Amino acid sequence: MAKVTIQKLKEMKQKGEKISMVTAYDYSQAVLVEKSGIEIILVGDSLSMTMLGYPGTVNLTTDEMIHHIRPVVKGAPTPMIVGDMVFGSYNESVTQAVASANRLMKEGGCDVIKLEGGRPDVVKAIVEAGIPVQGHIGLTPQTASLLGGFKVQGKSLDSAKKIIDEAKALEEAGAFSIVVECVPEELGGAITRAISIPTIGIGAGRLCDGQVLVFHDMLGLFDKFLPKFVKQYAQIGTEIVDALTEYREDVRRGSFPEEKHTFGGLTAEDLKGLQ
Ligand code: KIV
Repeated sequence: MAKVTIQKLKEMKQKGEKISMVTAYDYSQAVLVEKSGIEIILVGDSLSMTMLGYPGTVNLTTDEMIHHIRPVVKGAPTPMIVGDMVFGSYNESVTQAVASANRLMKEGGCDVIKLEGGRPDVVKAIVEAGIPVQGHIGLTPQTASLLGGFKVQGKSLDSAKKIIDEAKALEEAGAFSIVVECVPEELGGAITRAISIPTIGIGAGRLCDGQVLVFHDMLGLFDKFLPKFVKQYAQIGTEIVDALTEYREDVRRGSFPEEKHTFGGLTAEDLKGLQ
């Protein structure tokens, strides 16, 4: 299959074809996503919780992000691979932001980067440095405390207008797409109509150009909390625990390994003299 490009995503929006995006954080997950035909993989900073057990996204470093982007790039040649800029890697200056984006591209090997917040100056500088940028507005988890916690954003007309203006400014700054997180469905639709680049919603209703979900949430691999907007397509976590428990019981009972799992070649008689 042909590599998914920015042009392809643009055409999908124009034709009204919905775009799917999912997170993945290692080689084996990427191989599975490759087989599904999903257009975009986000190596999201959610890996901080799902893969590394941190309490939030703030602790994650650019080195850790690069460590996870690399195997995803190897495992999934077809989808567009988005590397997520981590907290603290683009909030000091435009120069710092460009340097961090360069690291994700050069050392990680992703195709494009994503960053949270409505900072057109930062997006413009990174795009001018030759790096495609996906924006992320609405609920931005890295700065959720400034937004009053993990809450739906844009519920008042004033805040809805601010988010639409941010989307327009990011498009103007050169972003090729925008993730819209946790806003009322009609606001997701209004943003999508207001800009010509694809919107990818998460908790942003049915009117965005595409959807993104976190791998662990949609497959039942992370049971600390489950946001209302997640659809669980499988309960892999429960299946894994059942399989591990059955294995432990087999080992205890002596019913694993069976003869078919063993190697012959010597008899107990042959080895008697060696004991
Ligand atoms: O890191 C992540 O998984 C994300 C998605 C929630 C869009 O940014």
